[in-house]
Amino acid sequence: MNINQIIQLIAPDMAHVNSEIRTRLKSKITLINKLAQYIIDNKGKQIRPMITILSAKALQYKKKQHITIAALIEFIHTAALLHDDVVDHSCMRRGQITTNVIFGNSANILVGDFIYTKAFQMMTELKSLRILSLMSDAVNIIAEGEIKQLMNCNNPNITIDNYMKIIYSKTARLFEVASQASAILAKANIFQEKALRNYGRYVGVAFQLIDDLLDYDASETILGKNIGNDLNEGKLTLPLLHTIHHSTPKQASFIRNAIKTGNNRHLLNKILSTMREYGSLEYTKKCATIRINKAISCLKILPTSPYKKALKSLATNIVQRIQ
Ligand code: IPE
Ligand code: IPE
Ligand code: MG
Ligand code: MG
Repeated sequence: MNINQIIQLIAPDMAHVNSEIRTRLKSKITLINKLAQYIIDNKGKQIRPMITILSAKALQYKKKQHITIAALIEFIHTAALLHDDVVDHSCMRRGQITTNVIFGNSANILVGDFIYTKAFQMMTELKSLRILSLMSDAVNIIAEGEIKQLMNCNNPNITIDNYMKIIYSKTARLFEVASQASAILAKANIFQEKALRNYGRYVGVAFQLIDDLLDYDASETILGKNIGNDLNEGKLTLPLLHTIHHSTPKQASFIRNAIKTGNNRHLLNKILSTMREYGSLEYTKKCATIRINKAISCLKILPTSPYKKALKSLATNIVQRIQ
């Protein structure tokens, strides 16, 4: 199944999710409407809500609450990105100028808060303390992840273990609850719930690993974001950590220094060629592939269906993604 076939399979549900998103973002406040309209006009890949919908369908869930969950998960993601783009000084996302550049940092932060809190209002409507607790823990962990990452800005000594903890928190945790919440909705047994939760976690970690790889080696036009941001921000991610661990002392010290001082976007090509010398991009891709295979094996417990097949293909697509 290719990505278009997956999109086709859940098109009616995703149309509901998007109409929910549009309705919920309406406000009497002009600035909210303007910024929200920009986000709606430039929506992302919507992978997380797709996982929620596919997981619910794979468990034969028949009611409508998965639509609300999918929409509120996309809200949490959107709010996190609004804040993240301020923190990362990002100028480009989804092939467009970022909202922080157009509307300013303050608008991004405050509308981010509006969207986060909207997500919580929607959670309470589900009247499930379990899901409320699952989601609020996730939002809290995402915040922790972004803070841990901030603390390691310009730190050339970050360990792989710490890096993995950060990407779990800032990215994979939301993927994890995107699939787990549907298992809870569908009243799945504990084994199925755990399997779907693990699927989300593995996919989420792999997704961030690939994103970190693409930050060094992608076409900006296709990716829709500037590359070299992590290097420029002094954010040490797995591809470069691998190079530091395998290159000559001279090369390693050059890279460590670039991370320490930051603002070194101009060194991207030089550093990228050292990364290629040591196969660091392939290594990162291999780490992602291992997790994708684990994610796929978690799906064994689910009954055969087109949705299960789509979850499998979606996972495979993460490693092959170019955007
Ligand atoms: C971007 O996520 C942030 C990361 C976790 C890398 P996506 O690549 O899913 O963002 P959009 O919503 O599709 O733009
Ligand atoms: C995304 O992280 C932020 C969150 C997951 C909250 P990144 O900073 O690595 O992603 P991009 O590159 O801005 O999309
Ligand atoms: Mg960022
Ligand atoms: Mg990134």
